[in-house]
Amino acid sequence: MREFIYYSSTAPTSGKALDEKNLNKSGRIDIAIHSLIAAFFLSHKIRTDTKVHLFFTGPPSSPKHLELKPVIEGKTGEDKIYFSKQNVARVLKKMLYKYKEGIKNEVFPGFWIEQQTILQYVKGISTDNLYILDPKGEDIRKVNIKPNPIFILGDHLGLPKKELKRLKSFCTPITVGPETYFASQTVVLVNNELDRREIPPH
Ligand SMILES: C[S@@+](CC[C@H](N)C(=O)[O-])C[C@H]1O[C@@H](n2cnc3c(N)ncnc32)[C@H](O)[C@@H]1O
Repeated sequence: MREFIYYSSTAPTSGKALDEKNLNKSGRIDIAIHSLIAAFFLSHKIRTDTKVHLFFTGPPSSPKHLELKPVIEGKTGEDKIYFSKQNVARVLKKMLYKYKEGIKNEVFPGFWIEQQTILQYVKGISTDNLYILDPKGEDIRKVNIKPNPIFILGDHLGLPKKELKRLKSFCTPITVGPETYFASQTVVLVNNELDRREIPPH
């Protein structure tokens, strides 16, 4: 399994605040959507070895942790949902609407929402295979990445200073190249590097 943790300080934290017709005005949730598409979708195929965590801290009820590990087996509408590049915004909106106080709610098979901060979540992970995507980090091509890696990245504003400092104390900063890329482009570059190295083995 490979995992991505995406943080956005502006993305909406309620279903009502996500306007499907105005995505780039809805706390730049368009960037989260592009990153999700880069994480999961291949031509005619969904990656089944990938999980994405979205941490949103925009208005009105921050923080929210949305966890996505799409199910592809079984009957659509019962065992799995129809999940495509076209309906990502609608799926996120429904997840936000279905938040239930005090629990981690499985809204659809493989799609959960709960109230949690990125630091609470990352502190609970017991792995040394944790990387923060940072233009000033070590070159990904020189890093020995073990199976089941986890990569953390930020939105257009990056990660806030406080979170970045804390996260860097237990993550290895790595860079995917000499430019500052869009969040979704960094996901593509990481996926490509892992595919080439066959991590995890397919
Ligand atoms: C558009 S960038 C954010 C730019 C923002 N102004 C900043 O200073 O963080 C979005 C995210 O992509 C990742 N990123 C961008 N370029 C990268 C690079 N060369 N290597 C690794 N990660 C990168 C970082 O995690 C960043 O938070």
